Amino acid sequence: MTNHQRRIAITGGAGFIGSNLLLQLLPKYPSHFFVNVDCLTYAGNLSNLRSLETCDNYTFEKLDIRDRSAVVDCFERHRIDSVIHLAAESHVDRSIDGPMLFVQTNVIGTANLLEAALKQRERIGQFRFHHVSTDEVYGSLGDAGYFTETTPYRPNSPYAASKAAADHLVRAYHKTYGLDVVTTNCSNNYGPYQFPEKLIPLMIRNAGEGLPLPVYGDGRNVRDWLYVEDHCRALDLVFHRGSAGETYNIGGHNEIANIDLVTFVCNIMDELLGGGPRRDTIEFVTDRPGHDRRYAIDASKIEKELGWIPSVSFEEGIRATVGWYLDNEQWLAECASGEYLKYYDKMYSNR
Ligand code: NAD
Ligand code: DAU
Repeated sequence: MTNHQRRIAITGGAGFIGSNLLLQLLPKYPSHFFVNVDCLTYAGNLSNLRSLETCDNYTFEKLDIRDRSAVVDCFERHRIDSVIHLAAESHVDRSIDGPMLFVQTNVIGTANLLEAALKQRERIGQFRFHHVSTDEVYGSLGDAGYFTETTPYRPNSPYAASKAAADHLVRAYHKTYGLDVVTTNCSNNYGPYQFPEKLIPLMIRNAGEGLPLPVYGDGRNVRDWLYVEDHCRALDLVFHRGSAGETYNIGGHNEIANIDLVTFVCNIMDELLGGGPRRDTIEFVTDRPGHDRRYAIDASKIEKELGWIPSVSFEEGIRATVGWYLDNEQWLAECASGEYLKYYDKMYSNR
């Protein structure tokens, strides 16, 4: 085996953020070795990573993080010294329909990785555990204010609660066992390779197919959007330079109400494709139960300590994203087939 500086497992590397992260880190760190650990659920797609298949500092392990002995074995075989943990069930609506899978993957799966990390530290003397989490652990904001790293946890959906439980386990392994951990809590990401169950790609697909555009409730729920490549740059910084035991909020300072966002996407599609106006196909549908009203991140800690600020403006990012989905019709069509169509019908037929 070649002597690499770091040997890093990226869990969930075939998902949306994981794929973008691997595509960003591999060329940047030829002296690190990367193991993509992913069991390829509906959200995992290895075709995102085709360009990496010939890289000699990359390999893929099809592995379910719910299987602790498989994780321990993988870390030992690859002499892993750090993990950036992204593998998760990530969609809030699915967690409302079936919370137990979220508990299994997000809570037990994270606990399994922490146990494997401790074992690996015993073998090699050091181990860094970077847990990739969400701002949803903080619950919902009113019209004013921001989530900081000290905002109390108040998760509202089963997804958010499962991520909060995982965050607490990570913290406990630092306090109790002295494991070298960092946790990041990020706001809503958008960009290439996002599965079309999420708001932005769902709207792009539906608008492209002439389907209705389902906006939950009154459409005034606010999210703080961040282009995925900016999130990945922040992960890179925190992984390499974040202080052990610390948490870092990551966000775009880019709040927008859902209805304004969907209208913006429609206008860009009208401009690029002609026809429309696509905003006329927006339909207000039954709200998500427990729907958080507003998320907004105070990202001043990561800015002050690590010098991170977002580099892609919202308009630039949305234009790049719409362009990517229009250029990758086949990718989108493959995601939006089979099981997804059954999910879509079930999710939206009663709304
Ligand atoms: P995603 O759903 O697109 O990808 C998840 C990946 O995890 C998939 O490749 C899937 O196959 C894999 N996976 C799921 N269960 C697994 C298991 N049991 N074993 C191994 N692999 C498994 O998710 P995403 O949007 O890329 O999010 C990645 C991480 O970032 C998640 O932990 C999520 O909570 C967090 N996050 C996401 C956002 C966002 O806006 N998407 C924002 C903040 C934090
Ligand atoms: O804040 C970070 C979180 O952002 C991540 O932790 C999650 O993994 C990620 O899925 C995302 O959660 P949201 O629930 O905010 O994202 P989603 O794309 O599902 O929805 C965004 C907003 O749009 C939310 O207010 C619900 C609304 N929505 C969503 C869909 C799918 C609609 O109005 N219509 C829809 O069809």
